[in-house]
Amino acid sequence: MENTNEALPDVFDPRIYAAGIPHDAFRALRDRSPVARQEEYEVLGWPAGPGFWAVTRHTDVVRVLKDAGTYSSHLGATQIRDPAPADLPFIRRMMLNQDPPRHGRLRRLVSRAFTPGRIERFEATARSRAKELLAAARDAGPEVDLVRAVTDDYALLNLTDLLGVPAADRGLLLEWTERVIAYQDPDEPPVLDAEGRPVNPRSPAMLAEMFAYAQQLAAYKRREPGDDIMTVLAGSPLQDAELEMFFFLLTVAGNDTVRSAAPGGLLALAEHPAEQRKLWKGEVGVDTAVDELLRWHPPVLSFRRTANRATELAGVPIAAGEKVVVFHASANYDERAFPDPYRLDLGRTANPHVSFGDGPHVCLGAHFARLQLRVLYEETRAALPGLVPAGPPRRLVSNFINGIKSLPLRLEPCAPLA
Ligand code: HEM
Repeated sequence: MENTNEALPDVFDPRIYAAGIPHDAFRALRDRSPVARQEEYEVLGWPAGPGFWAVTRHTDVVRVLKDAGTYSSHLGATQIRDPAPADLPFIRRMMLNQDPPRHGRLRRLVSRAFTPGRIERFEATARSRAKELLAAARDAGPEVDLVRAVTDDYALLNLTDLLGVPAADRGLLLEWTERVIAYQDPDEPPVLDAEGRPVNPRSPAMLAEMFAYAQQLAAYKRREPGDDIMTVLAGSPLQDAELEMFFFLLTVAGNDTVRSAAPGGLLALAEHPAEQRKLWKGEVGVDTAVDELLRWHPPVLSFRRTANRATELAGVPIAAGEKVVVFHASANYDERAFPDPYRLDLGRTANPHVSFGDGPHVCLGAHFARLQLRVLYEETRAALPGLVPAGPPRRLVSNFINGIKSLPLRLEPCAPLA
């Protein structure tokens, strides 16, 4: 068969994403090869892998995410890079890396901690935190890096409150999540093994400290219960190892995603003054704005599955055991699912974006994430006259998290309409 791979764009290289979502590459894949073979070459000190299928159209992304029977989260876990075979059984203990029906048992147990009532009780705290951080940013202005001044702390502190982590321990959580997520980024020096090779941040050795902390916190919550997630988990039938894993999952899933979504949304507003003005004047609802900003800036770029059996997707045969990677960052801009996808439209109502995933693993924290973003945008509008770009943002080197490391903005009204 003719090899057409060479002509197909590469969307694997984590360095590409430091320049933003590679829209041209994704559009070319959607149009020409919606299930495309990708090379997984050695990059940034990480060894080469067997390659994978990149799924870029909305309809196929949803199909893969919903069909856990064919596209497993368990076989090879959910990161593009294969875990070391020795680490695989450990990583598979995490709910994220399980398939139905086993996944359902854990999901039901932990869902009890995420009741809408509990989440909504955090609104007042998130709001006063947003007010405080934004007031300090305004006083430091007119030019401010909003990641450093507002959004990093906002995401981390909201999560530690929800989990019930005491204030003195919040810094630990930040350190742990940065190790796991930013491992492809040159700003985060890798931990090396005896032979100088980077150590997988998801391996048991790297996580021992965090797990010990999860047990201590659970013991503390059994003595001193609070209105928080760890109190519910500490009193649930979760086994110790399950509780540790779930604590790890939450600290990563709940922190870096919001740390990406918040500056991603503010950047999109700064870059689109006409839409920003509509939001500031109350001409569009904040709820539709939250979802459109999540579509525009998907915090998670991709997730991996592994084919359980030989199958076919968009006419392409996939062999059992092959990796299948869905790209949320492409699906959200698929012209087959969204009219005028490259136009930011804060009033967009039919908005089936996949930023929170779909199927059995659909984000458990979506309600909490949307609440935090709504409060942040409302308070930004109340506190600041407007947002104007003051230099290029710095983005994370990662093919997994769409991170923004700095966001220089001038806190002044955006340009008046010509
Ligand atoms: C804007 C912010 C967020 C985004 C974009 C996001 C995105 C996602 C996505 C795409 C998945 C699906 C993973 C898969 O398909 O394998 C997921 C799962 C998950 N998310 Fe979120 N997330 C966000 C915030 C949060 C927060 C704040 C929490 C918790 C406090 C959270 C907890 C989880 C958990 C526990 C799962 C695993 C669910 C399962 O395996 O059944 N997320 N998230």
